[in-house]
Amino acid sequence: MPSFDPALLTGPQMYKLLAGSVLPRPIALVSSMAADGTPNLAPFSFFTIASADPPVLVVQNSVRGNRTRKDTIGNVEATGEFVVNIVSADYAAAMNLTAGEYGPEVDEFVVSGLTPVASECVTPARVAEARVQMECRLIQIVRVSDKPLGGSLMLGEVVRFHFRDDVIDAGLNVNLDVLQPVGRLSGSSYVRVTDRFDMQRP
Ligand SMILES: Cc1cc2nc3c(=O)[nH]c(=O)nc-3n(C[C@H](O)[C@H](O)[C@H](O)COP(=O)(O)O)c2cc1C
Repeated sequence: MPSFDPALLTGPQMYKLLAGSVLPRPIALVSSMAADGTPNLAPFSFFTIASADPPVLVVQNSVRGNRTRKDTIGNVEATGEFVVNIVSADYAAAMNLTAGEYGPEVDEFVVSGLTPVASECVTPARVAEARVQMECRLIQIVRVSDKPLGGSLMLGEVVRFHFRDDVIDAGLNVNLDVLQPVGRLSGSSYVRVTDRFDMQRP
């Protein structure tokens, strides 16, 4: 069984081991806005729930290889607001278009053809195509490392949940057949949630 000392591995090697093992990962398509009003959209799969009450999401932004910050975390640091849109299979290709390394002046809604819809509590727009949209206010940024492939965590409290009519029932159960969430695997691979099983807890 091969084992590795992280001290002897490069950043890309550690990325490969982690991203190839911690999966499938949900994808947050994060909408944010620059201080000058330029909209921004980008996907993040180092993403999960940090707390249910209060409802808090955590999204990681890596440091780019050239040591610059991603537009998303710069925008969120400046404005304190973002929207997490859950990615469904029918718009996965458009989500992928938002992941290009574009300059801060580029509006990825335009690049991807996705549709902005005004949020209720925050300035960044929601993605109309998303069946679940969560408006978030920044609680804290946790800087983990400034190294290339290091990163920071954005902790955001959900201040408004939006669910498309057909994706949720009166009991607040989310219908996965309607949500059709897409998960990130390693490299360019993705997964659909089509093979499920149940287990009762002891
Ligand atoms: C499915 C997917 C998941 C991604 N997950 C992350 C992630 O968790 N953290 C990260 O820093 N970049 C991630 N990326 C890369 C960013 O989306 C990409 O660097 C993007 O250009 C950042 O945009 P921004 O500079 O507008 O914030 C991911 C890309 C894809 C396609």
